[in-house]
Amino acid sequence: MNYKPLKIGKKTARLPIIQGGMGIGVSRSRLAGAVAKAGGVGVISSAQIGYDEPDFEKDIQGCNLKAIEKHIKLAKQQADGGLVGVNVMVALQHYADHVRAAAKAGADLVVCGAGLPVDLPGLVENTDTAIAPIVSSKKAASVLLKMWDRKFNRTADLIVIEGPKAGGHLGFSTEQLDDISGLDYDNEIKEIIKEKEIYENKFGKEIPVVVGGGVFDRSDVEHVMNLGADGVQVATRFVVTEECDASDKYKQAYIDASEEDVAIIKSPVGMPGRAIRNKFIHNAQQGNISIKKCFQCIKTCKPKEIPYCITQALVNAVIGDLDNGLIFCGAEVGRIKEITTVPALISELLGNIR
Ligand SMILES: Cc1cc2nc3c(=O)[nH]c(=O)nc-3n(C[C@H](O)[C@H](O)[C@H](O)COP(=O)(O)O)c2cc1C
Repeated sequence: MNYKPLKIGKKTARLPIIQGGMGIGVSRSRLAGAVAKAGGVGVISSAQIGYDEPDFEKDIQGCNLKAIEKHIKLAKQQADGGLVGVNVMVALQHYADHVRAAAKAGADLVVCGAGLPVDLPGLVENTDTAIAPIVSSKKAASVLLKMWDRKFNRTADLIVIEGPKAGGHLGFSTEQLDDISGLDYDNEIKEIIKEKEIYENKFGKEIPVVVGGGVFDRSDVEHVMNLGADGVQVATRFVVTEECDASDKYKQAYIDASEEDVAIIKSPVGMPGRAIRNKFIHNAQQGNISIKKCFQCIKTCKPKEIPYCITQALVNAVIGDLDNGLIFCGAEVGRIKEITTVPALISELLGNIR
């Protein structure tokens, strides 16, 4: 199959592959810079990105804003002109500040999901940062694009469609996730593509679409391209690369996991999430986890009512304290058998098209 470069607003990535943002700390400058250098789009996750800054516990938001700028700079230094984006979850308490900080620091694009980014165009006004919403349904795409058109006379530079096999928080109900084949998701992808064509015509510009969630090998890439996608968003596979920012223990947990180890959990964010079943999940289900501190991460979190703190659980995981950590993963994690590198993985997925 012949692949075209991915045009995002005024910028172009040589290869049509985006590395999905992974928080907390799984995709920072090292991974994003390597993906950008290899020709794809590298994406840093802004979620508690400053978790290892010395003053983090005293000044959480200050450290996060400083770390957003630092990691964009570091990734761009590595990227050799490749595109570096930042993933900011709409559910974050400081979502708007993170988007503004990313744009100010020169992010090529911001990718926003875990909620509808209704005010995103206003947050990047007068900057060169492109905007990409993550949607999981035609309904979400339709509501958002209509709103941006009416309120900002603007449309998306790229749309990320995230399907039910993705990792982390998911835009589907647990009932839907129990019967993924019943969703007929290929049809939903085609419907979202049709919907964005309305706005391509209206604004006289291309709005490329990338599809993610369970894209594991070249046949998956070809499958979504044949549905009309312009590229893919891949996350789980990038975790098990030398360049990924997570600890070696985190990567090993991916290699060791089998299909049966994948669980759908209820997250304090209020959405279902996909993760590797481990001691932490067992303890959380038994109500055995104490919450020591609130890290002010999610708008909707009610610290008195939740079984565990999502920030603490994700930080524990990324640094390798797996028994006390929540290890997010995509549905296909059981198929990963060994560590690779970013350039090798991209060649495996797209072929040698440099
Ligand atoms: C460890 C992990 C962390 C993730 N964190 C985020 C996040 O912070 N924000 C977000 O929008 N998506 C997040 N995702 C979703 C990915 O960006 C991506 O869209 C999805 O996982 C793609 O499916 P795949 O993992 O099967 O390739 C995460 C996924 C994983 C595996």
